[in-house]
Amino acid sequence: MITINKKVKGYYMQKDEWKNDSEYCAIVADLLANDTVKKLANYKQHHHSTRLEHSLAVSFDSYKIAKRRGLDYRAVARAGLLHDLFFYDWRTTKFDLGSHAFIHPRVALRNAEKITKLSPIERDIILKHMWGLTLARPKYEESVIVSLVDDYEAVHEFMSPMKVKYDNLKNRVRRISVSK
Ligand SMILES: [Fe+2]
Ligand SMILES: [Fe+2]
Repeated sequence: MITINKKVKGYYMQKDEWKNDSEYCAIVADLLANDTVKKLANYKQHHHSTRLEHSLAVSFDSYKIAKRRGLDYRAVARAGLLHDLFFYDWRTTKFDLGSHAFIHPRVALRNAEKITKLSPIERDIILKHMWGLTLARPKYEESVIVSLVDDYEAVHEFMSPMKVKYDNLKNRVRRISVSK
């Protein structure tokens, strides 16, 4: 089982929620045990999260939504975890063939195909997750969910530590005014 550093209290604790869902854990167990997927922990994604933490958050939150909507939540959980399976720093690596938004879903799909068999929905989820920045429209509702959750997580991961800092500051100010 992968352990996530509890660097920022409150933030990563929330991110461990997926470990309490036994069905989710069973769906992604083989992927989490895979060395290629584990390597995602070595890459920074959105300032305050590793690519593995980000992928788990996208996967688990999308899984919960898909399950509630009676969709293929297994495909959503697995492809959500694999949607950013690439190994370069997107801030510094540039490509002649196109933007990072265009290239990395294709790289992720190729890497994912090397470690597991993908269904048509899983392929579409990985390939179209940058919908909005790229023109290719998702074919399935499952792909739309992962794409929207991916956007949400990017903002959330960037903002969460700031919120924790703000809450700590607020508590300190409250304690000072109570003790006066
Ligand atoms: Fe991505
Ligand atoms: Fe992503």
